[in-house]
Amino acid sequence: MNVLPADPVMADYERTRAVFDWRRERSRLAELPDGGVNMGYECVDRHLREGHGEHVALRCVARDGSVRPVTYARLAQDSSRFAHLLDALGVGPGERVFTLLGRRYELFTTVLGTLRAGRVVCPLFTAFGPEPIALRMELGDATVLVTTRESYERKVAPIRSRLPRLRHVLLLDLDGDPPADTLALPALTASAPKTYDVGPTASADLALLHFTSGTTGTPKGAMHVHEAVLAHRVTAACALDLREGDVFWCTADPGWVTGMSYGVVAPLALGVTTVVDEGDFGPARWYGILSDQHVTVWYTAPTALRMLMRAAPRDGALPTERYDLSSLRFAASVGEPLNPEVVHWGRRALGLPVHDTWWQTETGAIMIANFAADPVRPGSMGRPVPGVEAAVLACGEDGRAAIDEGHVRLLRQPGAQGELALRAGWPSMFRGYLHEPRRYESCFADGWYLTGDLVSRDADGWFWFVGRADDVIKSAGHLIGPFEVESALMEHPAVAEAGVIGRPDPLAGAIVKAFVLLRPDVHAGAELRRELHAFGRRRLGPAVAPREIEFVEDLPHTRSGKVMRRLLRARELGLPEGDVSTLETREPSGTPDTTAKGS
Ligand code: PRX
Repeated sequence: MNVLPADPVMADYERTRAVFDWRRERSRLAELPDGGVNMGYECVDRHLREGHGEHVALRCVARDGSVRPVTYARLAQDSSRFAHLLDALGVGPGERVFTLLGRRYELFTTVLGTLRAGRVVCPLFTAFGPEPIALRMELGDATVLVTTRESYERKVAPIRSRLPRLRHVLLLDLDGDPPADTLALPALTASAPKTYDVGPTASADLALLHFTSGTTGTPKGAMHVHEAVLAHRVTAACALDLREGDVFWCTADPGWVTGMSYGVVAPLALGVTTVVDEGDFGPARWYGILSDQHVTVWYTAPTALRMLMRAAPRDGALPTERYDLSSLRFAASVGEPLNPEVVHWGRRALGLPVHDTWWQTETGAIMIANFAADPVRPGSMGRPVPGVEAAVLACGEDGRAAIDEGHVRLLRQPGAQGELALRAGWPSMFRGYLHEPRRYESCFADGWYLTGDLVSRDADGWFWFVGRADDVIKSAGHLIGPFEVESALMEHPAVAEAGVIGRPDPLAGAIVKAFVLLRPDVHAGAELRRELHAFGRRRLGPAVAPREIEFVEDLPHTRSGKVMRRLLRARELGLPEGDVSTLETREPSGTPDTTAKGS
């Protein structure tokens, strides 16, 4: 197997950073005959070539608890079949294959088949409603969609007419005739050849497209290339402590970047065994999986851990007393702040602390982490991974890094707060926002990538999360763009305007709250509120729809007509209103300008 030598990374952080070299790590990848790198090849073909085909790649745990082991050889065969199907359907290189699938075996064969065939994977979240799905498929030029019959009929069929470029819908289900304009995937792949030769792939060819949300405008399609696999490997080894022989479990949904980078690519690239749980969250189920599957390394989310923490039984028994968690060696989380209480609970309840890691859709891989060899600093995101340089930049009045004639200013004094920036150039750095070059360029200054997160760094170089510089909402680890929610609500005939914020929540971090201004003559009552809730859920899906709706007489605007969410948030929390010099003082006349773009 090809796990990084654990020694230098685990034993001595400073020394590892000093000697680390991306070029040397690059030389560990299997070079294709044309000199390129293919993410799918790294995950599958190389293990067969190196004689590890019979190693178990996946342990798929069905809803009923039955377990199906899948070897790397089998994964190679089934993903080969899918790759051949793309060829047979005439899907061209670089075209986008969208998935609307939960954690299940076919997700892996679709993703790996697509990558090996040099096409681009774009995963969607199954808890999205038709509107976010339509928007992302339109923006992402979807050619192929792989999903289930149920998801198709409920969420895609109603919006199919908006997707003229969608040529093939492939459904996993075997039963019955496929609905009109869809194809049954199993029938098509059954007779396809079981081997596939990965063709020429340049390291910088597009491999993954991940949509993420900004404060304004449409979702952003972050473009990731094949050589990102280099960062997946390195970070999984050094930040998640993954080693040969491990059984890894990443609980993230494959519709988001964590579920793809660490649920699929990283563990397979390192040749370990990955648990794929097809069921839903539940304390008994999750502890059962940790125990029965002998999970050694676990990557999950703070919200899930807080839910486990809350689910403590009345008799006070610890999970370690009820379940055999003795295989578990390392636990880590990502996506939202990990409160120190959870780290302490982990020590007590699981027998080990939870290690916070920080990254983003745009960074493609873990950038900052608490490493296995260091004592965890509860509440800190940790330190940059080897090969990544991070800095705190001085901010201007808008709360973002101040750029003066193209230059930024680094804050070096311990504790100073500013915008987190990363020196551009690590292998999994996004290479663009699809069709939005200017939006991409505006993320960089003076050789730094500006993350949009506010942080401080202590005297020892550990980073501490302060908050986001923008208005996006983190709810249960999912990034939600307020603009997308506001736009959907404003399509309801009763709504004149909406302002959407994240209201702090002890479990989910934040919940989506909408302040709604109704059209004149519309009565604000409980029935309308219920209707708007249902309308939101139908359009946006349960993960994105507002959980709270408050009717208001007026919404605060900037002079350019944009809703001041910052002020809504301050008023909601009873905080000082801060700088209101841009506040519109007159009644807004007409529709506000919601077309502005930005991040
Ligand atoms: O605000 C930070 C928060 O999640 C954002 C990135 O979200 P997304 O692109 O959906 O990727 C999530 C998973 C990689 C960041 O800008 N975030 C991520 N990790 C942490 C965090 N906030 C606090 N602590 C973290 N460890």
